[in-house]
Amino acid sequence: MTSVVTDSPFVRACRGLDVPHTPVWFMRQAGRSLPEYRKIREGIGMLDSCRRPDLVTEITLQPVRRHHVDAAILFSDIVVPIAAAGIDLDIVAGTGPVVAQPIRAESDLDRLRPITAGDVGFVAEAVRLLVGELGPTPLIGFAGAPFTLASYLIEGGPSRTYLKTKAMMYGAPALWSALLSRLADITLAFLRTQIDAGVSAVQLFDSWAGALSEADYREHVLPHSARVLQGLAAAGVPRIHFGVGTGHLLRVMGEAGADVVGVDWRTPLDQATQVVGPGRSLQGNLDPAILFAGWDVVRREADRVLEQGKAAPGHVFNLGHGVLPETDPDMLTRLVAHVHEASAR
Ligand code: CP3
Repeated sequence: MTSVVTDSPFVRACRGLDVPHTPVWFMRQAGRSLPEYRKIREGIGMLDSCRRPDLVTEITLQPVRRHHVDAAILFSDIVVPIAAAGIDLDIVAGTGPVVAQPIRAESDLDRLRPITAGDVGFVAEAVRLLVGELGPTPLIGFAGAPFTLASYLIEGGPSRTYLKTKAMMYGAPALWSALLSRLADITLAFLRTQIDAGVSAVQLFDSWAGALSEADYREHVLPHSARVLQGLAAAGVPRIHFGVGTGHLLRVMGEAGADVVGVDWRTPLDQATQVVGPGRSLQGNLDPAILFAGWDVVRREADRVLEQGKAAPGHVFNLGHGVLPETDPDMLTRLVAHVHEASAR
């Protein structure tokens, strides 16, 4: 990583250092809110596009060019490494990941083998191309956390209740632990590949961990996510840990080994920093739905988020979850300019 990137507002805010302005990027900034994205993806499946470094590079760069965000996030998906590990799955438009044969028994584990850097060489190639193109702008790598990945593998697709996932967690703890342990190995290998290829930070998405109580998270999930995050400590890049509806888990998600805790819109950042404690920055947390309420509301709410973010050791401005496909991209461009202007020191 060049010193320009390590000194970028994004990396500095992750580390709790002073910044010229609050950095901003958006989860799902690369994707369906952009007409240039819809155009380039025409007739190409989601997983196929993730496997083409030229396309990944172009799609990752699109929101950086358009919005002037402070960081790029690699265009990929959380299920890319589990597909590379041998699981037959597809990403269905409007639905999400769908797994052909869900994992329900010990004998199913054999279909989930460990991955090596060679299995995801296309990701390393895309990262190398991107680092060259991005210059001073940091690139964020990412992976799904073991719990969120397990939920897709066990349910077979998206779920509201996580019924089968929780049934395995409570009813078959040995199988659960074996599955999450395999997923932690895959996630760690996937993130190490991205770091070796040059990403400047990583985000671990445990999007659906909010479905668990703190006690269950500590017992059944924390050991595996902690092994991933702590396994990256020596790499020296900031580690962001994010989930939705995780107000009650913010402390433990920090303890798992995060430098930055991602917060959804339900918890104000000044409260979140009290819970997370000193030494960790925060990322978040404008409700993505606010972008549909008109500019005056967006500006007022962005100012509130900036104000509340001052309580944290470092603040990376983001939405509380991903950009919704119907979002007007001009709203995002305007929001970036406003965050930069309003937070200029
Ligand atoms: O801009 C970015 O943030 C980078 C790209 C990115 C995608 N998926 C691209 C994508 C990232 C970081 C993800 C992570 C991801 N994927 C998560 C964690 C983030 C979160 O939302 O909590 C999860 C849970 C998934 C699984 C997944 N993949 C879902 C729920 C969906 C949406 C299904 C749909 O079509 O509504 C996907 C598909 C997906 N991943 C799309 C994109 C751009 C849409 C597919 C398309 O454009 O055809």
